[in-house]
Amino acid sequence: MTLIDRDKRYVWHPFTQAQIAPDPIPIVKGDGVWLYDEDGNKYLDSNSSWWTIIHGHGHPYLAEKLHKQFLTLDHTVFAGATHPAAVEAAEKVLKVLPNNFEKIFFSDNGSTSVEVGIKMVYQYWYNKGIERKRFLALEGAYHGDTFGAMSVGQRGYFNKPFEHLFFDVDYIPLPTEENVDQICEQMVKLFESGEFAGFIFEPLVQGAAGFRIYSPEHLDRMMEIARRYGVKIIADEVMTGFGRTGKTFAIQHLKNCPDIVCMSKGLTGGVMACGFTAATGEMYDSFLSDDLGKALLHGHSFTANPLSSAIVSASLDLLMAENTQKRIQQISKAHQRFVKEHQNNPIFRSVKSLGTILSCEVEIGEESGYFSDLRTKAYNFFLENEILNRPLGNVIFFNPPYCITDEELDDFYQKLMKFLNEQ
Ligand SMILES: Cc1ncc(COP(=O)(O)O)c(C=O)c1O
Repeated sequence: MTLIDRDKRYVWHPFTQAQIAPDPIPIVKGDGVWLYDEDGNKYLDSNSSWWTIIHGHGHPYLAEKLHKQFLTLDHTVFAGATHPAAVEAAEKVLKVLPNNFEKIFFSDNGSTSVEVGIKMVYQYWYNKGIERKRFLALEGAYHGDTFGAMSVGQRGYFNKPFEHLFFDVDYIPLPTEENVDQICEQMVKLFESGEFAGFIFEPLVQGAAGFRIYSPEHLDRMMEIARRYGVKIIADEVMTGFGRTGKTFAIQHLKNCPDIVCMSKGLTGGVMACGFTAATGEMYDSFLSDDLGKALLHGHSFTANPLSSAIVSASLDLLMAENTQKRIQQISKAHQRFVKEHQNNPIFRSVKSLGTILSCEVEIGEESGYFSDLRTKAYNFFLENEILNRPLGNVIFFNPPYCITDEELDDFYQKLMKFLNEQ
């Protein structure tokens, strides 16, 4: 039996309707920005393997640190115990976050980092004996697939079977120059009720909604209103963190600081499953008590796994190195040149970049959407041209590993335009 036959017999894939889905690509090797299938075909990993791999595949420094950690300590319980890899990882991440953040809670992925953030906010109010139970989120939001994360995400097609289980959330549109005043008025009206516990958002760019980029000034205005009404602020940096927006965190483009930051994906350079939820001292202190019931009674078997913790530190070493920072700026500049060149090209409904993310909403003569035919055509064209790219409907986006070369960037832009010019 081939790998694909065995896969079909035994494996249940994410986001896949197995009855009609094409065969999966049998990926057998990764090296730098390239993925290889079992027939020896290579593909540029143009979306960094679900937006995670920031240093490329098989980085020798990460491999060395992982190996060393494995030989030292592979796993241990983390309630009532600690270990150097976890402490070092927390120290290092807190050093690159704004000073307000004092503590890291460890979990396993982006959804759990958000889940923990939501629980921190709810319990913050519970511990204070104040009844605040509503959340505010942005239309089009994606925060993951666990129940809390789904509750604050966009409701609809992807989570319909579970909708009756979600808690109370109000949604406001993504801010634009035209609607921001209205949104701010809406927020004031909602918050005046005194019912709101938290406000959650993906800072500056909504990933799964189709890489929708919005302005830091608008987000700052919204955060100021949340602050005024004591509403706790969660910045979901699962996708934007670790250099994606040109700065280490997207919140570094803002004047206001959230209470909680959720991280995953690039946190380990994309090579180990890990989630971090950073909290301010004020959040943390609200859980301190003689009463165990006021503690955050949450954890996972793999909380602060030493291997993933060691990779957090190692990935951060690579990220902060001069050559990586330089590459991030060079990719950002290359994207900006592409945007400038095509700003008035009618092929695009919009073409924008933010740091190392390029987002191209292709004009399709009808409303943009996840189910646009263009998605499959583009996906297949790219595969035939040595690129693995998963557009979100008619939005083609490019968020490569930071080790991509200028030639590889140019090659992607050229192939993208070849595809679009042939439509
Ligand atoms: C902003 C954001 N939050 C949370 C998640 C969920 O992360 P995970 O898939 O690791 O559970 C994602 C995943 O794409 C995301 O983009």
